Amino acid sequence: MSAEPIEDRCRSEHVRRDAWWRDAVVYQVYLRSFADGNGDGVGDFAGLRARLPYLAELGVNAVWVTPHYVSGGADGGYDVIDYTAVDPDYGTVEDVRALVEDAHALGLRILLDIVPNHTSDQHEWFRRALADPDSPEAARYHFMPASEEPPNNWQSMFGGPAWSRTPDGRWYLHLFTPQQPDLNWDNPEVADDFDRTLRFWFDLGVDGFRVDVAYGLFKDPAYRDNPGIYSPTLFGHGPEQAMTTNQPRVHQIWRRWRAVCNEYFDEKMLVGEVSLADLEQVGLYARPGELHHAFQFRLLKSDWDAEAFAETITEALDAFSAVGAPAPWVLGNHDKARQATRYGSERRARAAALLMLALPGSAYLYAGEELGLPEATVPDAARRDPIFFRSGGKRAGRDGCRIPMPWTADAPAAGFSAAGSAEPWLPLPADWSGYAVDRQLDDPSSTLTMYQQAILLRDLYPALGSGQATVTREGGVVRVDLAAHHGDPEPITCWINMGTETVTVPVHRLLMASAPDLGGPVGGLLMLPPDTAVWTRV
Ligand code: NOJ
Repeated sequence: MSAEPIEDRCRSEHVRRDAWWRDAVVYQVYLRSFADGNGDGVGDFAGLRARLPYLAELGVNAVWVTPHYVSGGADGGYDVIDYTAVDPDYGTVEDVRALVEDAHALGLRILLDIVPNHTSDQHEWFRRALADPDSPEAARYHFMPASEEPPNNWQSMFGGPAWSRTPDGRWYLHLFTPQQPDLNWDNPEVADDFDRTLRFWFDLGVDGFRVDVAYGLFKDPAYRDNPGIYSPTLFGHGPEQAMTTNQPRVHQIWRRWRAVCNEYFDEKMLVGEVSLADLEQVGLYARPGELHHAFQFRLLKSDWDAEAFAETITEALDAFSAVGAPAPWVLGNHDKARQATRYGSERRARAAALLMLALPGSAYLYAGEELGLPEATVPDAARRDPIFFRSGGKRAGRDGCRIPMPWTADAPAAGFSAAGSAEPWLPLPADWSGYAVDRQLDDPSSTLTMYQQAILLRDLYPALGSGQATVTREGGVVRVDLAAHHGDPEPITCWINMGTETVTVPVHRLLMASAPDLGGPVGGLLMLPPDTAVWTRV
């Protein structure tokens, strides 16, 4: 065998076949809230299929669908009862096959969500484990003998201890709700079973998976106390969670799953949720032979602050380029308050989106951000998120970013369901009609049109979404110089003004602006007001 240097192997693996995922724009569909096809007030596969042309027109390359499995419903589908069956609320396995076919015909790829860290407490394994402590199924979870106090100080991410008692007095581990018992990945039967699940959906034509809690799975074998307590205000898990996150053994699983992907001719991909604070550690999950994309959430967790944005982007680019992987960017998802509310205005959310869509790597959009949706106020009686209930109402939870999509301004339920359907599962705010898709389509100043145009330009200009980026900052202004490759004759610069004063930037030609009210450049100079981003040719 030739002694190929690691860097070369790294590059060749990441660019093998078409590597479609390297600079893809991926659109996250919160299935329950996207489109209701059967009138029960809950989004489903029929609804999603009918809306695929909308996504093709938006210009995205792939769609990630949040969990669709039969589930206990304790955590928005992230408590799976059966990994190869579809929750009847959403449809059937045949609906998934049809979705994939329709999507492929439109040039879209479909990613499903897989949940390997824990199952539902109603999964047949856990039911058998409860019934018989000596069963093989019990060895697939973390049980500890009866004792007065919980076995250690591990905390649930949603509040309270991570241990609950079984009816016979044992303790079992759940890093999320008690209805989500953690699997014991040191038991090889667990990994074998997930290989079967991956192949089941890949054989059906699915193009990949978003992997839930990809930084988790393994736990300290001696169950030692964690050095500290996790706070959701942190950028991600750090050394304080050393016993329950980022155990080095987890990388073996991602190599194993990558090998399963590589069994297929059409390229399958994996994007892992790697909520670790240390970006170098996140990068390791995207090494050659592991996950294709490793989500880092530092940008998502950064406030509207030029220094935080510039530093995070530079560090993330460094961390991923060190392993030859593209950086996946994300500003919003189903776990985080909507950008328009978090940053303080829709104008700022639009500027941030333009910055993200320029950066080299892939961009993940969360359904509704292209409409500029704000975080919705949800009446307590309508709330569903276990975070709200487990924190005794201290944490609002994530329902406000999971509201059904407004499609048609003047239709009942804003067109999420057909007229005469059941009420939507979460209430749509009464004043959302202005955000509806039908109001924004063909309106040149709408947020939807801005996203469409930005994605189109990203396809047209090689300097956008791939290549080299150099990030600099002066006060509240971040400048990103983008080039398809060294010496690119057509480099592009993205400027974002996150400060409070209008600044003047040198511009030869204005390609795109996040705000409609910008005058063209005069004499090679452009006035860039606060809360605005532009793409320019120098
Ligand atoms: C991360 C998911 O994004 C979140 O919605 C879920 O509650 C946890 N993982 C647990 O599965």
